[in-house]
Amino acid sequence: MASFFSTLRRSLNRLLIALPVLLGLLISAPALAAQWDAETLTVPADGDGALVTFSEQEIKTGRKVFNVSCGTCHAGGITKTNQNVGLDTETLALATPVRDNVAALVDYIQDPTSYDGEYSIADLHPSMRSRDLYPAMRDLTDEDLRLMSGYILVAPKVLGVEWGGGKIYF
Ligand code: HEC
Repeated sequence: MASFFSTLRRSLNRLLIALPVLLGLLISAPALAAQWDAETLTVPADGDGALVTFSEQEIKTGRKVFNVSCGTCHAGGITKTNQNVGLDTETLALATPVRDNVAALVDYIQDPTSYDGEYSIADLHPSMRSRDLYPAMRDLTDEDLRLMSGYILVAPKVLGVEWGGGKIYF
């Protein structure tokens, strides 16, 4: 009888420990989901004010393609070899022409230009135009470019300053 009660007490104790954990999971799950609501997944489609809403799956695919093709230099939204030209939205917005929209980013990946837009840097930066020089670009489709661009614009909305390191200039 005594052992029955001690077993019962132990089970109850375990339940008391498990309960807050379960409750915590229940409370934090909607918070995680909220990061990916329609507003987060909506970004400028072009420079004229049109918007596009991606699905969560599209952004996840974009992240995968981005990490494989661009991650060596741009992991976390920074640019390892030129810290002044990161992928944070502010730096994209200050480029000429502006790059903080999907169409401009797709255009950049096709034929990248200097930050002032004056000349092509396709020979120096991986691009579709220079895909013969950069094998990592060869298998990318137009859809891949669109999803990667979506990821670049959604990432700072989810990650905050962890994307591009915030306003750190070197
Ligand atoms: C070998 C390193 C390297 C790889 C790989 C690379 N980039 Fe870059 N990226 C750079 C450098 C360096 C710059 C800055 C260029 C300049 O001087 O304007 C840059 C600039 C950019 C910019 C402009 C940022 C701004 O604020 O104006 C975008 C957009 C960009 N890269 C996207 C990509 C994408 C998308 C990929 C993958 C397809 C990629 N990059 C792969 C090195 C790289």
